[in-house]
Order: sequence, then C-alpha cells, then structure tokens
Amino acid sequence: MNSFTLVSNKVNSLNGEIEVPGDKSISHRAVILSMLSEGQTVIENYLSSEDIFRTVEISRILGADIYLKNEIMEVHGIGLEGLIDPKKVLNFGNSGTSIRLFMGILAAQKFESVLTGDKSLRKRPMERVAEPLRAMGADIETNKGNLPVKIKATNGLNNLRYRLDIPSAQIKSAILLASLFTDGKTIIETDTETRDHTEIMLKDFSSTIEVDDKTISIVGGKIFSPEYIYVPGDLSSASFLILAGLISKDSELKIKNVGLNPTRMGFIEIMKLMNADIEIDADNQFNSNEKIGSIVVRSSKLKGIDVPTNLIASAIDEMPLVFLAAACAEGSTSIRNAKELRYKESDRIKAMVNNLTSLSIDVNEYDDGATIIGGTIQGANLDSFDDHRVAMACLLASCRSETPVIVRNCLNINTSFPTFKETMNSIGMNINEV
Ligand code: S3P
Repeated sequence: MNSFTLVSNKVNSLNGEIEVPGDKSISHRAVILSMLSEGQTVIENYLSSEDIFRTVEISRILGADIYLKNEIMEVHGIGLEGLIDPKKVLNFGNSGTSIRLFMGILAAQKFESVLTGDKSLRKRPMERVAEPLRAMGADIETNKGNLPVKIKATNGLNNLRYRLDIPSAQIKSAILLASLFTDGKTIIETDTETRDHTEIMLKDFSSTIEVDDKTISIVGGKIFSPEYIYVPGDLSSASFLILAGLISKDSELKIKNVGLNPTRMGFIEIMKLMNADIEIDADNQFNSNEKIGSIVVRSSKLKGIDVPTNLIASAIDEMPLVFLAAACAEGSTSIRNAKELRYKESDRIKAMVNNLTSLSIDVNEYDDGATIIGGTIQGANLDSFDDHRVAMACLLASCRSETPVIVRNCLNINTSFPTFKETMNSIGMNINEV
C-alpha cells in the first residue's frame, strides 16, 4: 500500500478559481470541543481526511455520538464529566494534533489510557506534552520520549503557570484542554505566536479565557456548544496552489473561502518578501473570529532571501514549500532557526534537502535549516519520507521541470488533502498514479 506512487508531468500555465477543503487544525478542535461541551454542534465544511477521522473515532470510543451526513457533522456533547473508559489501546494513526490534544484531555480522567500511532507518529516527541501535564499533577509514562504513552487515572489536576519555550500550538492546546478539568486559573506565557484556533474556539464555547500579547489565562469549568461551526478552507492546503501559481509561467489562480488567521500567514509573508504577486481579500461579513477570504496569485519571478526567524512558527507546515520556492528563486535563500521541522511527520529538513539535491539543486544542510541556491530543476524519482506535505510539495517541482517528477509513498496525502491530485489537475497540473 505504501508504495503508492504519483508522477507529476511538465506544467504549462495554471489557471482557475478553486476552493480547498476545510482547515485541519480547526476541524480537530471543532470535534474535540463539541465532544467536551454541553449541547449539540453542527460542523459544516469539516475536513474529510484520515487525521480528522482519527479524532472522530477516538471521540466516539470515549463516548460521544457523532453523525456524518452529507458533509455535515453532528456532535452530541458529553460534557467534561461524560468520558468513558476506552478499555483498549487508542490508536491515533498519523495524527500528531489528535494525540497531543487528547493527551491533555486524558491526563485529567479517572481511568487509565494507553495511546499509540503509526510508524511516523511513533518516532515523534511526546515528552514535550507530558512534561507540562505532569506539572499539573498528571501521571504519564512515555516510551523513552515516544509512543506508546501510558496515562494513569487521576483524582484531579492542579492549575499551572507555564512558560511555553517550544513554539508549539499542540503543547499549548493540550494544556488548555487539561485546564478545563481544573477549578482555578491556568496561565501560559509565550514569546512566539503559534496558531491560536484553540483560544478562538474556546471563546465560542463560552470558556473563560483571556488572551493578550504574550499571556493566555483560562479558568476551568464547563463549556457550552455554540450549536454551529463553519470551518474555513485550509490555508495550508491552499499554499500548494499558491506556490504552484507563483512558479508556473502565465498563471493566475483565485482561491476562495480560505482561512486567513493571522497566526497562519507566515508563508504568504515569506512569499511576498521573495517578490510574489499575491492579493488578499478578506471577507468582512464572515460571522466568526476566524478570518476568511480569497487569495489571488500570479506567476512571479521569485528572489532568494534570508527567511526571517519570526515568520517560521506561522509558516511551520508550509516550510517544505519554502524550500521548493527557494529552489525556483534567483539567488540564495537561507532558512535558519527552524529545528522544529525535524520533529514533524518526517525530519522535514533532511527530507527536503535530500529531495532538492535529487532534483539537481545545490543545498547546504544545517542542524536548524538549510541554504538553497536557486537553479534549474531536473525531474527525479523521490520519496515522501512518510510525510504528506513533503509528498505534495515535491510533486509541485514539475511546475519548473521539463522532465517528470515521481514521488513514491504518497498514500499519506489522504491524512490532510485527499483531493490534492484532482484539485491540482483541475487548474492545469498533470499528476497521475503510476
Ligand atoms: C498544529 C500545530 C503544529 C502544526 C500541525 C498542526 C495544530 O504543530 O505543525 O500540523 O493543529 O495545533 P506544533 O504544535 O507541533 O508546532
């Protein structure tokens, strides 16, 4: 199954108006908070992908009734007291967001749980989440930092004042979810802004949460369903279209109905610094604290830059695309202070350095990033390194190659963007199964 190979052929121009599927991070949070709330929630435009189905499945095992009908999800909340003992190992597949957010919830339960995942997830660090949860009183054992994780039953968690030194929305969200099960106030201090979908959605669920520049404070206690959540299109998925439009000749694409949360805009800002022609049009009518709107991109002559460190966290999932943009740019691009990339679905520094080298691009690898010299891409036979975003980013290399780009092991694309091939082909790409 894992040998599922895609071949991406030479691209002429790309054109069209498209929408991308719902946002993955927001879809996870919508299911989880709806499950923990009092009341019923209808979730529209959720992402129908394997990672979200893991969150749905785990929520069902823990006692929530969830119905999927015609692209609408209906979640019957069980409240903070309603979770039931799973009595079996919980398997989170490939989904880092699901497992880390559920660690926060399961740390506060009166029953024990054991959590595991697939080959890629089993290599990813879990101590970073276990450590603050232990400081709240949770009893958690990791397997030398990795999965499986065993969480013992508890009679309650304490409040915490925590300094978030790793720029991770998943750690932050695990602490916020655990804090719902406490009586008093938990405070998280952070210097680096990471995606804030949990904070925004907790407000929609009437939680007592306050956010200022560098501090989040939350008071535990029941949350209440807002009854309806609309999930905007995923800016991370849209970013594949954005880069394809920028690096292909004579191209213009409009991506509609996409999330424009400021904590996710790093990739667009980096592309603009590289001379990209991108227009953003926010939709002010949208009835949510999540921003939404459309993005127009046109073919651009990209220039190499030193990627500013302060944009890395808000572009973290799009960094494989920044590597490819750099390969297509004139001059050299430096990506540093990006070591977090080594802890994603693959070691994304290693994966992109290997693949760009195979595509005949000059790259120097560092512990925390790489320098990439823009050049002429030559088609090659690549591996996804078990990583959906590496697979999709590398398939875009055919926008600048005369010969086909082949990527092995692409089944993982289903975890985040199952309609990737069809969407890219609808604007003029030519991606096929081998
Ligand atoms: C996510 C947070 C990020 C991101 C991941 C989704 C989330 O991970 O890379 O794809 O939904 O909270 P980190 O929190 O580990 O940076």
